Amino acid sequence: MRYDFDKVIDRHQTNSVKWDMNLVNFDREDVLDLWVADMDFPAPEPVVEAIRKRAEHPIYGYTFPPDSLYEAIIGWLERRYGWRVKKDWIVFTAGVVNGLYSAVEAYSHPGDEIIVQPPVYYPFFSAVKNTGRQLLYNHLAFDGRRYLMDFAGLKALFEARTSFPARTPRVKALILCSPHNPVGRVWSPEELTTLGRVCVDNGCVLLSDEIHCDLLMKGARHTVTAGLSEEIARTTVTFMSASKTFNLAGLSTSFAVIPDDRLRRRYVEARNGHNSGNLFGFVALEAAFRHGDDYLAQLREYLNGNLEYFLDFIARRIPRLKVVRPEGTYLAWVDCRGLGLGPLELQRFMREEARLALDDGFAFGPGGEGFQRVNLACPRPLLKEALERLEKAVKGL
Ligand SMILES: Cc1ncc(COP(=O)(O)O)c(C=O)c1O
Repeated sequence: MRYDFDKVIDRHQTNSVKWDMNLVNFDREDVLDLWVADMDFPAPEPVVEAIRKRAEHPIYGYTFPPDSLYEAIIGWLERRYGWRVKKDWIVFTAGVVNGLYSAVEAYSHPGDEIIVQPPVYYPFFSAVKNTGRQLLYNHLAFDGRRYLMDFAGLKALFEARTSFPARTPRVKALILCSPHNPVGRVWSPEELTTLGRVCVDNGCVLLSDEIHCDLLMKGARHTVTAGLSEEIARTTVTFMSASKTFNLAGLSTSFAVIPDDRLRRRYVEARNGHNSGNLFGFVALEAAFRHGDDYLAQLREYLNGNLEYFLDFIARRIPRLKVVRPEGTYLAWVDCRGLGLGPLELQRFMREEARLALDDGFAFGPGGEGFQRVNLACPRPLLKEALERLEKAVKGL
C-alpha cells in the first residue's frame, strides 16, 4: 500500500511526550515540536492490524515471546544485514535504555569506568552515572563537515589506565551509538573493526546501540558491529528495536543480541527477573519485522526528501546555520554557532523567538554546545512551518 507521510495527524491529547508536555519541557505551549526521536507518522498498517486483532481477545495476562517472534527477528537481521543470529542469543528488554542499564550493571561494578563518545544520546551518561559508575569521555572529532572517532585518544585512554604503575583495568565497557545520535554518522566497517579490535585487546565489553540502524539516508549502509568477526561478536552486546523504525516507542519492547554465553548469562542474571517487553510490543515487533519492508522503503524515501528540503532551505534562506548532513537517523545536527549566542541564549532563542521545541546540543555532552538537534520525521508541511519560524526569528536577531 502507499503511505501518505504528508498527512498531518493531530497528536494532541494522546499523552504524547513529544506534543503534550510543552509547558513542562519548554515553558510554553505554542512551540512546534521537532525534538524527541519519535515520528509523527502512523505505524505500518500490518502492525496496527496485528495489535487490533490481539486486542480483541480480552485477556492481557503475562505473555512470553513466541517462536514466531524469534523467527521474525532472525529473518529481518539476515535479510537486511546479512547477520545470522541464533535464537538463544536474543534477550528481550523493555526498551534499549532499560537494556543499557542492565548491561552496565552486568559488566561492571560501582566505581568502574565506562567510555562514551560525546556528543551522544544523553541517557548513555545517566546509565553510567545513575548506577554509580564513572564516565570516561572519548570525544568525537569534528572536521567541520563530519564527525570521526578518535582512535588515538581511545587507545591513550586505555593505556593510561593499564600502564605503570600497574593497576587493574577499570574500563569495563564502551557504549557505541551506531548510527550515531545526534551527529548522524553511519560508521564504516573499517571504523567499527578498529573500534572492535581496541575493545577486544583491552577486555572491554562493547555495548552497541544500533536502534537507528534501519534509518539510513541515500548511499548509506549499516554495518552490524558484531557481524564483523567472531572475536568482536564475543565481546559485543547489540541493542536493537523496531521502535524508531516503525514508531513504536510507547510499546517499550526491544531486544539485545548476545552471542557469547558468558556475557549473556551475566546480562540475564543482572536483569534479575525484570520485566522485558510486553504483549502488544511482541505482536507489533513481529508484524513489523515480517511485513514492514515496504513501509520502511517508503519511509526512507520520504525522510530523504525531508532532509534535502531542510538542507536546501537552510543553505538558501538561513545561511548563518550549518547542517551536519546525517548519513543515518532522522535527526539533523545543526551548527548554530554562527548566531553568536551562548548555550542558554540559544535555548531561549529557539523557544521564545523561533517558537520551536528542539533538543539543545549541550544536553548531548561536551562538543554539543552551540548546536541544536532537529527531528525531521514529520510531515513536510510541519517542517516547512518550522523552517519559516526559524528564518523569521533569525532575521529578527
Ligand atoms: C541511540 C538511542 N538509543 C536508545 C533510544 C531509546 O530507546 P528506548 O525507547 O527503546 O529505550 C533512543 C531514542 O531516541 C536513541 O536515540
